[in-house]
Amino acid sequence: MKVGFLQFAPEFGNKAANLERIRRWVLEGPSLDVLVLPELATTGYLFLSPEEVAQEAEPIPEGPSSQLFLDLARQRNLTLVVGLAERADHRVYNSAAAYLPDGTTVVYRKVHLFWNEKDLFAPGDLGFPAWTFRNARFGLMICFDWYFPEAARSLALQGAEILLHPANLVLPWGQTGMQYRALENRVFAVTANRTGEERRGGQHLKYTGGSQIVAPNGDVLLRVGRETEGIFFVDLDPTAARDKQITPKNHPLEDLRPDQYRLP
Ligand code: ACM
Repeated sequence: MKVGFLQFAPEFGNKAANLERIRRWVLEGPSLDVLVLPELATTGYLFLSPEEVAQEAEPIPEGPSSQLFLDLARQRNLTLVVGLAERADHRVYNSAAAYLPDGTTVVYRKVHLFWNEKDLFAPGDLGFPAWTFRNARFGLMICFDWYFPEAARSLALQGAEILLHPANLVLPWGQTGMQYRALENRVFAVTANRTGEERRGGQHLKYTGGSQIVAPNGDVLLRVGRETEGIFFVDLDPTAARDKQITPKNHPLEDLRPDQYRLP
């Protein structure tokens, strides 16, 4: 199963240019089963007010960006995963959607909002989604969700074998953290981070790039540089995530002791 990411630097507020760059990369890129793009890939990240982000947010899958992504998924016969601002029921979410080639869409709304996102987005209310595609099971989480082991664990408990992780990482530990999320659940993890920097309203964010694909033992199978742009992929065997024995007598999901995880 060929699973990859597109690392690039979206241009803030220029959705038309970002969509055109994505369109060309996807149409001219390698034949893949799954391609993951960064968080807020259509707009950039550094919004300054809820009004500003509301102007760019779109319903999923009815909005024009989603319609383009569904068309690309069908044309290239792959699942395309993209982070974008979602408008739903007069709220705006920091969402990511998986667009499948059969026209179905899986939506995730970011649960753990990072820093000023708390002033811009409503917190996710759909839980963490897992779905099956080409005999493999996938799960979706966004960026800062990496800091919360419960996100990846909740996907692994639903049988996810490959975590898909659109990101705009700025803290220095995200890539390493995802190696532990993969190891502790014995799953693959694909982080599609953005690169570049944004300066707006006196704020400055420099993104860490380093998009990567991690194996169920925590090993990095592929990691690109901080500033690299383009599509990169690994041909992986999802069944490797089904052997979860740590020792013949230890299993990260079957050994869980929820009755003991409580305050004294
Ligand atoms: C982040 O969650 N975008 C750091």
